[in-house]
Amino acid sequence: MSTTTTTPQPVHKPPKTLPQLLDSSGTSLLPPPLFQGAESLIYSLPFSALYPSLPTSPLLILKHRFPKKYRHPTIDNRITKHRTKSEVKCIARCRRAGVLCPIIYGVGPDYIVMENVGTRTLRSYLQTLPPSSTLSPPAITALKLLTQSIIKIHSASVVHGDLTTGNFMFTAESKIVAIDFGLSSICAPNQGSKKRKQNDQSGASNNRIEAFAVDLYVLERALVSAHQFGEEMVMVVVNEYKENSREGDRVIQKLTEVRSRGRKRECFG
Ligand SMILES: Nc1ncnc2c1ncn2[C@@H]1O[C@H](COP(=O)(O)OP(=O)(O)OP(=O)(O)O)[C@@H](O)[C@H]1O
Ligand SMILES: [Mg+2]
Repeated sequence: MSTTTTTPQPVHKPPKTLPQLLDSSGTSLLPPPLFQGAESLIYSLPFSALYPSLPTSPLLILKHRFPKKYRHPTIDNRITKHRTKSEVKCIARCRRAGVLCPIIYGVGPDYIVMENVGTRTLRSYLQTLPPSSTLSPPAITALKLLTQSIIKIHSASVVHGDLTTGNFMFTAESKIVAIDFGLSSICAPNQGSKKRKQNDQSGASNNRIEAFAVDLYVLERALVSAHQFGEEMVMVVVNEYKENSREGDRVIQKLTEVRSRGRKRECFG
C-alpha cells in the first residue's frame, strides 16, 4: 500500500519583495509609474508579476512610499514604516466594517500591493460633470455616497486623516471606494481598568468627536478649494452626516467650533 501523502499546494506564492521587482538582474520589472503622489509612487502591474503561479492576471496597484531625501534617513524609515502599517491596519478594519476599500494582497516595510479599484478619483468625476448653474443631481448623489462612506469609516473608529475627493475613487459601477489611509488612526474606546475606563470615558468620547470633526473640516477645506459649488457641497455632506451618523449632532456641533478655530488661525497665523 502506498504511504505517500500529497502535500497541499499553496494557492499562490507570496509576492516577490519590492527590491527584487525593482532590481532583478539589473532590470526593473516595474512599468513606469501611473501616478506620483506627495507620499508615494503608484504602479499598475499584472497579478502575475507578483504571483507567477496564478493563471489569471488582473491589474494590481503597487504603492511604494519612496525615500524622502529631505528627511533624516532614520526618521524617514520610521515614518514610512508607520504610515504603511497604519494604512494596512485601517483599511483592514474598515473593510471588516463594510467600508468599500481595496483588498490588500501584500505588504512590506515601504510598499503595499492592493486591488486596483478603478481609474477615476471622485475629484475628477465631480470636475468633469457637465457644467450647470448649480450643484447637479449626480454630484449630490456622489457626495451623499461619499458621506455614507465617511460615516462607516468613523463608525469603525477610524479617523481617515486626509479626507479629500482625491482620496476616494468613483468606480464604473458608480460606487465610492476609500483609499489613502496613510495618515489614518484608530480612536477606539480606551482600554484599561473598569474604573479608569469610566473616568476617562467622557474625555475619550470628546477626543473622538473632535477627531471626526477635524476629519470633516479637512474635507470641507478640500471641497471649497478644489470644486465649483464647494460651499454647497459642504452643505450636502454636513446634512447627510448629521442625519445618518449616530454621533452626527455632536460631530457637526464640534465642526462649528473647529471652523472658528481655523478662521482665527487664518487671521492671526
Ligand atoms: N487601490 C487603488 N486603485 C486604483 N487607483 C489607486 C489606488 N490607490 C491609489 N490609486 C491612484 O493613485 C493616486 C495616489 O494614491 P494615494 O492617494 O494613495 O497616494 P499619495 O502618495 O498619498 O498621493 P497624494 O499625495 O496625491 O494623496 C490616487 O489618487 C489614485 O489615482
Ligand atoms: Mg492621496
